[in-house]
Amino acid sequence: MKPIKLTVNTNSGKYPILIGSNVVSKFAKLINQNSIDFKKCMLIIDKKVPKKMIKILKKNLKGKQLSIRFIEASEKNKNQKNVDLIINDLLKKNYSRSDCLIAVGGGIIGDIVGFAASIFKRGLKFINIPTTLLSQVDSSIGGKTGINSDYGKNLIGSFYQPKMVISDTGFLESLPKRELICGYAEIFKHSLILNKNFYKYLEKNIFQILNLESPQIEKAIYESCKIKKKVVEQDEKETNIRKILNFGHTFAHAYEAALNYSKKLNHGEAVFLGIYSALKFSFKYKYLNQKDYNSILNNIKNSKLPFKLVNYFSNKDITKILHYMTRDKKNKSKMINLILLKKIGVASSNNEFSKNKIKLFFQKELFN
Ligand SMILES: NC(=O)c1ccc[n+]([C@@H]2O[C@H](COP(=O)([O-])OP(=O)(O)OC[C@H]3O[C@@H](n4cnc5c(N)ncnc54)[C@H](O)[C@@H]3O)[C@@H](O)[C@H]2O)c1
Repeated sequence: MKPIKLTVNTNSGKYPILIGSNVVSKFAKLINQNSIDFKKCMLIIDKKVPKKMIKILKKNLKGKQLSIRFIEASEKNKNQKNVDLIINDLLKKNYSRSDCLIAVGGGIIGDIVGFAASIFKRGLKFINIPTTLLSQVDSSIGGKTGINSDYGKNLIGSFYQPKMVISDTGFLESLPKRELICGYAEIFKHSLILNKNFYKYLEKNIFQILNLESPQIEKAIYESCKIKKKVVEQDEKETNIRKILNFGHTFAHAYEAALNYSKKLNHGEAVFLGIYSALKFSFKYKYLNQKDYNSILNNIKNSKLPFKLVNYFSNKDITKILHYMTRDKKNKSKMINLILLKKIGVASSNNEFSKNKIKLFFQKELFN
């Protein structure tokens, strides 16, 4: 089957996203078709990517001077040290700006490699081959790259658009169920903030999507990419509308940090809890009507995905959660900035609340 194609048009570049099964087996052809010319390329691959997929990729890069590095994907490894290792290797092998760096992995590998590509000789060609559902529906689109530091997550980075994104659903077959849920949380978020029809589609097809059934999985990736593309095309550098992509994330990041990034709650699960919290907040403060609120709540409950905060936190954790919420990048003052929902398919940004108001909300609505 021919891959489904979407084109992202930003001020700093235009590039295709190709979605489908067996897309990597057409990699050589796709590079040519999209006039991405290079002699040397370095593949940076997540250690958990199945060997058979790497073999197909290597076959498609015959005739190029090829180097390969493997990285173990973890938030701890998403650091300057790994960026330096890549850059030193590129320098040692005398790569030029017309050569290419290719990321093959989830959001962690994509963010590290995209960042390295953006600073090597002020930018060499970058192709992203996302291998997790989250990276196929979210992190590979829009050009945000970055690494963590001792001061927090994603605090060092750049905006740098790839030359091409290849989303092959074959990669998802080896992905653990929990990681599929991570991706689904972002798909669900995209539907809530911008597309009611897609929300209804997800309501009916969630289990087929999580079971990677075709054509539901391709449709979910495609629609999700389309929503993200629409937002980043309007606001590449996140000065305005792009902020709505953070729906649920101010809560989610604080939940992850409050548990010290423990495996007990991974990023996608935190996003699901965050969406649930932002939804309750939107209803409580009359942004969202009862009908839409009930519909989403039923949807969340029927999905059988984790959303109950009491399974992870109690009243004694509120101070810690609030501490992390006040440190969110979106805040411009001491107030906490939240993205809320007005109705299914319509989000509202730049809503500021005091720490006390949110504390009360936690005590009354979330932990009882
Ligand atoms: N740049 C952006 O716009 C953006 C957006 C959202 C998230 N992010 C970042 O993305 C990261 C999360 O990305 P993620 O959820 O893809 O996590 P990840 O990269 O950590 O991958 C999740 C796990 O799946 C494994 N894995 C990857 N591909 C696999 C495959 N095909 N088969 C089996 N296992 C595989 C990895 O080794 C890892 O253990 C975070 O660091 C987050 O900050 C970036």
